[in-house]
Amino acid sequence: MTADVYGIIGCPVGHSMSPEIHNLAFQDLLIDAVYHRFHVEKRDLEAAVKGIRALGIKGVNVTIPHKEDVIPFLDAIDETAARMGAVNTIVNEDGRLKGYNTDGQGYIESVLPYLDKELSEISCLIIGAGGAARGIYSAMAHAETGRVDLANRTPSRAYAILESCSAPVSSKVITLDQAQCSLTDYDLIIQTTSIGMSPKEQAKPISLAGIVPGTIVSDIIYNPVKTVFLQEAEKHGCRIVSGVGMFIYQAALSFRHWTGKMPDVKAMEAVVLQKLGGSKIC
Ligand code: ATR
Repeated sequence: MTADVYGIIGCPVGHSMSPEIHNLAFQDLLIDAVYHRFHVEKRDLEAAVKGIRALGIKGVNVTIPHKEDVIPFLDAIDETAARMGAVNTIVNEDGRLKGYNTDGQGYIESVLPYLDKELSEISCLIIGAGGAARGIYSAMAHAETGRVDLANRTPSRAYAILESCSAPVSSKVITLDQAQCSLTDYDLIIQTTSIGMSPKEQAKPISLAGIVPGTIVSDIIYNPVKTVFLQEAEKHGCRIVSGVGMFIYQAALSFRHWTGKMPDVKAMEAVVLQKLGGSKIC
């Protein structure tokens, strides 16, 4: 029997940990399949998508910089991907390519175990207004989160997210300075900018001085596992959630789209933490 082929398309993809966790899940579940990295330049995206069909590749993840640009080359996208204007998962259904987006729901799944209230009672602040923030905002809004505010260096990008979201959710846009002064308004702070990511590890988007101990502070960066932002949150007595969980859950939800089965997320997490040289931090 020939193994089914899956993979990730992006540029760069050399450091992606997706192959390790998906191949582990295929082995665990005795699924005869293999997951590869495919480096695809922007100019080659259309040809690469045609190649998925031509070669019978069963499914792919889509990463930077193709999540938005890939949409016109697909046969269909689901409602969540349409809402987000971005696709991170493609399923090849007998030659028909359908796009999904598991990023926002992946974030929610990763943070739910840390919440001691219903989402409808939570007030949260998203720092950043890029693609990652858009996905998380949309998922949190549609999950009927009590309040979801956005703080960004460029406020117009945050307003654009609010305007494009159809869910009725209490929201406002604030500046990064205002965010720093209103930390006590929030149960959950979600850091979605690239600030603090390896190799510029020493930076953070705002100071957390004055935050209420016990506030949940999460960072979607997973390399380093404990960003400087999370280190500061921990010093203030906050509960911290690293980006490893979101990475694992978005992958697990992609895997379920492809196979109908949910992989062992704990085993996936262990592989990622081992590779990053980190340990479970929360
Ligand atoms: P992604 O798709 O990964 O979210 P992105 O679309 O490039 O990436 O968005 C990056 C986010 O990080 C944006 O919110 C960006 O702020 P701007 O909209 O003002 O550009 C934020 N960001 C990146 N570098 C920053 C910096 N040095 N200071 C403040 N915000 C920064």
